[in-house]
Amino acid sequence: MKRFPPALALSLLAFASTAQAADPNLGRNLAATCANCHGTNGHAVKGAGMDSLAGANKAKMLQKLADYRSGDKPATVMHQITKGYSEAQLDLIATYYAAQK
Ligand code: HEC
Repeated sequence: MKRFPPALALSLLAFASTAQAADPNLGRNLAATCANCHGTNGHAVKGAGMDSLAGANKAKMLQKLADYRSGDKPATVMHQITKGYSEAQLDLIATYYAAQK
């Protein structure tokens, strides 16, 4: 089997990480996983009893997500969901929702 040249492997890795950091839709794509419950683009179905996330205060939302994640804020599902994301990902998601009208 032919070995992969290390320099090529490194340059591919470097490309992969910059490609991810530069993806302007990453926050939106991550936030799409919340739409089942919180509505498309964070607009919950009226009368369904679910909190809308669109236009939320970013700092407050991040605090709630952190509290769910640590278990400080009791929840039925959000404590599990928030554990599936890194803090950087939750920051991207909160930034996305805060920007929605
Ligand atoms: C399976 C349904 C479901 C999904 C998917 C879901 N949530 Fe939730 N969310 C809830 C429920 C239910 C609550 C109320 C707290 C609880 O019981 O877990 C809630 C509460 C919240 C709150 C607090 C709202 C407030 O104003 O107090 C935030 C913020 C939130 N979710 C953000 C998110 C984000 C961000 C995602 C995607 C990463 C997400 N949720 C995905 C069901 C969901």
